[in-house]
Amino acid sequence: MIGDNIIKAKELLEKGEIIGLPTETVYGLAGNGFAEDACTAIFQAKNRPSFDPLILHSYGLEGIQQFTQNIPEAAIKLAKAFWPGPLTLLLERNELVPDIVTSGLPRVAVRVPNHPTALKLLQQLPFPLAAPSANPFGYISPTTAQHVSAQLGNKVAYILDGGNCNIGIESTIVGFENDEAIIYRKGGLAIEAIESIIGKVNIKAHSDSNPKAPGMLKRHYSPTTPIILGDIPTLIDTHKNKNIAVLSFNQKYNNNIPHKILSPLSDDGEAAKNLFAYLRTLDGLNLDLILAELVPEKGLGLAINDRLLRSAAGE
Ligand code: TXA
Ligand code: MG
Repeated sequence: MIGDNIIKAKELLEKGEIIGLPTETVYGLAGNGFAEDACTAIFQAKNRPSFDPLILHSYGLEGIQQFTQNIPEAAIKLAKAFWPGPLTLLLERNELVPDIVTSGLPRVAVRVPNHPTALKLLQQLPFPLAAPSANPFGYISPTTAQHVSAQLGNKVAYILDGGNCNIGIESTIVGFENDEAIIYRKGGLAIEAIESIIGKVNIKAHSDSNPKAPGMLKRHYSPTTPIILGDIPTLIDTHKNKNIAVLSFNQKYNNNIPHKILSPLSDDGEAAKNLFAYLRTLDGLNLDLILAELVPEKGLGLAINDRLLRSAAGE
């Protein structure tokens, strides 16, 4: 079920099957992005509501230009600066993109993943790959082939193993309204990097009502164990009669409690890479509570805090 055979993955995808796909952000649940049946299978396997559109992955900007149109100047600049990489652009689609991919919206989300296995596969396919994160809807995204296998193993034909994801959180989503760039999801490409290419951008990622993207829903990316955010020593004291675990940024607070440190070196990239895997590990301990703290709000820290806040949010 798990393996590194790109030819096998290609053959299954050409037959309309869906597979686990490694990328540098998180693993995707991939199928032929031009085939309605494969896309339907993706929605079903993930238990994903049909109003939540899919991202199409291609080997490069040229590939993406085959199924999009009227690409804004700023989008081309970003694509040239950051693809392959953790950047998703919302672009006007053309007739090749089935309605199911975009949930009927006029724009399609597109990305070129920076992962050698994914790129090799995409270069050999005559269609882009529709791939949402390979987790059941609402749960933490997978960053290893084993994570995919644990949750969706019986729903996919094959899981292409590309090792641990280097970035560890989903791509940053950028769209354009009246030629103005807007961030819809904070992610693996820092906003500072985007602004260094196209200047100041607006962030719309925090609207809770009528979300454009369910990554924007308040409660998302959630483990089963409740998470409480705050000052960890205070939280440990308040909850000392419960079975607790701690997820901290860069230090250990108590030797007797199961805990994970996101980055002992206080590095936002390292913290992002560890976040989902550590949340999964702590969730697997089946304790009463996970106590966690926010990280410094810079670089990938914005996306990390966004995921922590959403995973801790009430229903
Ligand atoms: O890093 C990533 O982006 C990963 C890897 C596999 O590429 N994919 C990923 O896909 O995170 P997914 O489906 O879990 O999240 C994509 C987000 C969703 O919240 C979806 O609603 C939004 O992108 N989205 C997709 N197409 C859209 C569109 N046309 N307009 C607005 N939002 C869109
Ligand atoms: Mg997702």
